[in-house]
Amino acid sequence: MSDVTPAQAAELAANYFGIVGSAGPLPGEIDDNFRLDADGTAYVVRISPPETGAAKLAARQFVMSRLSAATMAYAFPAPPIGHEDIVSLPDGRTLTIVTWVDGVPFADLGRPEELAQDIGLLAGTVIRGLEGFDHPALHYQDHWDLASAKTTIRELSGNIMLRSDRALVEDVLDHLTVRAALLEKLPTQVIHGDINDLNVLIADGEIAGLIDFGDTRHSWRIGELAIAATYAMLGKDDPLAIAEDVVTGYVEVAHATRDEAEAIYDLIRARLAISVCVAASRRHLGNDHHLVSEEEAWELLERLDYVDAVAAAARLVAAAGYEVPEPATTILDRRDQAIGRALSLSYSTTPAGPLHIVRGEDTYLYDTMGRRYLDCVNNVAHVGHSHPDIVAAATDQMLLLNTNTRYLHDNVVTYAERLLEELPDHLDVVYFTNSGSEANELALRMAMAATERRGMAVLDHGYHGNTSALVDLSPYKFNGPGGLGQPDWVTVLPLSDPYRPDHDRDYRAVCEWLLDERPPVAGLLAESIVGCGGQVIPDTGDLHAAYEAVRERGGVCIADEVQTGFGRVGSHFWAFELHGLEPDIVTLGKPIGNGHPLGAVATTADIADDFNNGMEYFNTFGGNPVSAAIGIAVLDAIEQEGLQQNARKVGSYLLAELRRLMDRHESIGDVRGSGLFLGIEFVGDRDSKTPDPATAASVVGYAKEHGVLLSIDGPHHNVIKIKPPLVFSVDNANRLVEVVDNSLQSPGGGT
Ligand SMILES: Cc1ncc(COP(=O)(O)O)c(C=O)c1O
Repeated sequence: MSDVTPAQAAELAANYFGIVGSAGPLPGEIDDNFRLDADGTAYVVRISPPETGAAKLAARQFVMSRLSAATMAYAFPAPPIGHEDIVSLPDGRTLTIVTWVDGVPFADLGRPEELAQDIGLLAGTVIRGLEGFDHPALHYQDHWDLASAKTTIRELSGNIMLRSDRALVEDVLDHLTVRAALLEKLPTQVIHGDINDLNVLIADGEIAGLIDFGDTRHSWRIGELAIAATYAMLGKDDPLAIAEDVVTGYVEVAHATRDEAEAIYDLIRARLAISVCVAASRRHLGNDHHLVSEEEAWELLERLDYVDAVAAAARLVAAAGYEVPEPATTILDRRDQAIGRALSLSYSTTPAGPLHIVRGEDTYLYDTMGRRYLDCVNNVAHVGHSHPDIVAAATDQMLLLNTNTRYLHDNVVTYAERLLEELPDHLDVVYFTNSGSEANELALRMAMAATERRGMAVLDHGYHGNTSALVDLSPYKFNGPGGLGQPDWVTVLPLSDPYRPDHDRDYRAVCEWLLDERPPVAGLLAESIVGCGGQVIPDTGDLHAAYEAVRERGGVCIADEVQTGFGRVGSHFWAFELHGLEPDIVTLGKPIGNGHPLGAVATTADIADDFNNGMEYFNTFGGNPVSAAIGIAVLDAIEQEGLQQNARKVGSYLLAELRRLMDRHESIGDVRGSGLFLGIEFVGDRDSKTPDPATAASVVGYAKEHGVLLSIDGPHHNVIKIKPPLVFSVDNANRLVEVVDNSLQSPGGGT
């Protein structure tokens, strides 16, 4: 930077160009730039260092003049007529002057997605405007030239501190090397070379102009498009869809050969790699001119690292108007061949088909196209997808030891103690399993051992697991497709749903009558918020009545906390506490291991003694040191990150916001739940409460297309369940509410 003051800049403009006005400073990396206001017209006065060279400056002036003359669609800075001169100052520097272009940078407006296609149009227009133009001074290479990407990455990537980050740019380099033959053939011409988000100016919601010709050079023609697309993609939920739009806009005005179209995707990644390499080398050199978009460039680069590169490149080839062959076998075909079809795929009936998710982080999932989805379904990734502390706990212990529970090991004992600290005092003993189903199975064995009975009671519409005994205990299954109906040994107590209350019935009397009619029960297995039943919080008095009726008849009460435990309900750590219940056995699963297969059963000393009847309980994997290390790390994360409190805060905010939607949308009959375990019930009308599964399905389909994942449950398939990772933020909640709101306003989305 030089010591030129605005007053001196104004004086230079007056002396050399005869333009008299007042000057103010502008930012600039290499040049000293000033805005000059003279007689109602604004200019940029630029003083360039000697190394830029007068020839290059003259060439830039030509380019700007030529573009201004070639297209009226956009404004470009250009030397004012009669002032095309390049002035060599006595100190060796060069003075130029160009017109000012009005507008707000595309970046400052958050890179509006609706302008993506117009960004492509701009790039195409510039390419057309510069067709056939050449100048020897524009044949140069530096770090920003896409055609030199391989050299730049090789030279600068050593400055990237983290090995994993370096691997990302090295992967880009590998791709460029593999593609060398194609890249070498790419057509070249003079391009602007830096259609980035700060150089594109917007006025009245439209692209008004393009500034900064400091990177104008002779290079790959398609690089113009790739660079423009890169910046439009930064920070977007579906970056490839944005790139497609940019490409579509470009080919409206300019031609892209098939080779060029094939190269776009790799060149986008190359531009990102160049940016982060340059940023790293500047940091290494102590240059404080940081790149504004560095963080977002890393984020996008990382995201694209998981993208199926062949499919992504093909999408951009298709956007350029070329046919692309369908891949011969998709993963869906392979799955259908190799995996039993009784396991259904989410979204398989939606137009875009099932999701192919390859990465998770925090509350987000990412598919093979780098598309980001807000996960409102996964109550297993409790403390957030791929939580680094959980991953570290697992890998550290795995590197050391993993065996079964027949040896002494600190982890499993510590973990049992930690779990018991979270449970009420009357529960004294823990057993470990590998899943929620196994936990419920074990609880069944305990209840039967303690009572020497085989009958069981459950609540209607409940689901408790995938084993044959638990399918027998799950009305959701035995009354559903393929179900064999209610088994003899099972008593089904009604689910007391406050949204559909039955005031004519004495709930307790009904329970007693049913229990006396059916075989004697060892116990009751019940959730405290019935998830598969449609996120129903049973009436507290009725739930107590069911517990009491069972206990009076000698049975034990098992609280299934597989879905609801570990702070999800916000106000309490366990959902049974919402009702003030004191279960004899509590079963745990899903969130307990944040995705690692783990489950647990906690019970009283008495029941544990009865269970210790000589028939051993051995579980090969249950409670192994790795599982225990993970379980401890999950408890730590819940505590250290205040996740129960977050569930309460964000959950009550979300509940209130969703309830506000009821003012606008008649089809929402009820919004209910606790913490981050919520349900939205859709009805035909609020008086009759006729279930409306079609609207629920259309909201879920719309939400998926807009990057939000939801699921449906309830006996009538009309309840949307919301049970995201507990790291869900207020911003996440706002996004969810916005998408549900918009979906109900969209055609076919209900009222
Ligand atoms: C309430 C409840 N209990 C038990 C289970 C069974 O857990 P898992 O699938 O881990 O065996 C589930 C699973 O969805 C559940 O929702």
